[in-house]
Amino acid sequence: MKRVYNFSAGPAVLPLPVLERARDEMLDYRGSGMSVMEMSHRSKDYMAIIAAAEALLRELMGIGEDYAVLFLQGGASLQFSMIPMNLITDPASQSADYVMTGSWSEKALTEAKKLFGDVRVAASSKNVNYSRIPAQEELTLNPDAAYAHITSNNTIFGTEYPYLPDTGAVPLVADASSNILSRPVDVSRYGIIYAGAQKNLGPSGVTVVIIRKDLLGRNANLPTMLDFQALAKEGSMLNTPPTYAIYILGLVLEWVKEQGGVAEMEKRNVIKADKLYAAIDGSQFYLCPTERASRSRMNVPFTLAKPELTDGFLAGAKAAGLVTLKGHRSVGGMRASIYNAMPEEGVDALIAFMREFERVNG
Ligand SMILES: Cc1ncc(COP(=O)(O)O)c(C=O)c1O
Repeated sequence: MKRVYNFSAGPAVLPLPVLERARDEMLDYRGSGMSVMEMSHRSKDYMAIIAAAEALLRELMGIGEDYAVLFLQGGASLQFSMIPMNLITDPASQSADYVMTGSWSEKALTEAKKLFGDVRVAASSKNVNYSRIPAQEELTLNPDAAYAHITSNNTIFGTEYPYLPDTGAVPLVADASSNILSRPVDVSRYGIIYAGAQKNLGPSGVTVVIIRKDLLGRNANLPTMLDFQALAKEGSMLNTPPTYAIYILGLVLEWVKEQGGVAEMEKRNVIKADKLYAAIDGSQFYLCPTERASRSRMNVPFTLAKPELTDGFLAGAKAAGLVTLKGHRSVGGMRASIYNAMPEEGVDALIAFMREFERVNG
């Protein structure tokens, strides 16, 4: 068996000990005589798995009892619709603010607009191809908005909020799909934090929604499966939840705790990101399109001063066991996603390859 360093933006690398544990428990989960995949979601064994995952997420993120934690399906993308549906109760009089920092913010805005016309753009960095995060002073926030939406880390453009926007009494809603659990956050400053699991939390198929309880039940006329309150009331078990994905998510959370928690993840992520950006900035051969103050610790885009060498870079990297480095088409070049589970050695190997490629082709 040969494992590669996988720089995929998502689904992404998982901690090796998590995969090994899942392998060991695959056929007989802790004496139950069956795989987690084969268990009833209402069984005692499974109820313990989902309860432990929720408890651990609460512990790691410091989530208070005034928040509900939901494990949902439909991806972060379904939240683009569920959030306006649940939080806007009177479309004639209410609106919502969106800060535009990339393709995922655009998708979130598009879905909200389909449901409600009066959705405002509070700021946008589109004019600079989303290479930066607008500063607090640039946000034109409506104090009467039902909520203000941000994308806390922009997976495609490689930017991340260096500050937490102050939205006053307006609930702050954050799509944290690509940086959840990568650094400590003060959950009490948010109305909702949501994230598809497939980057920092586990496999695809489960979406975590952390929602302040006073935001539940604002809209009584929703399809049950799209109603946060109904989902919270049934402990994310209105129907069959994504049982195996939640089990793996629980194993990832155990791994994070064993490593020293979210503060330790942040320490490692800073080291990895600093090294990689320094390697890019220290060369004239590699270029980084993002403004320094807005750079993401999770997704690092870079291009070549000689773009015609891009395919050769990617092919050489792959041969060296460094895979899924192709950048998104809207940015071009390369993108190294270095989530919690990417070891520092993976970043070191990438930097060594970059130096060698520059030496030969520079
Ligand atoms: C920031 C962000 N939001 C939303 C999504 C969409 O997530 P999903 O595929 O779970 O719907 C992604 C996926 O990459 C993302 O990076």
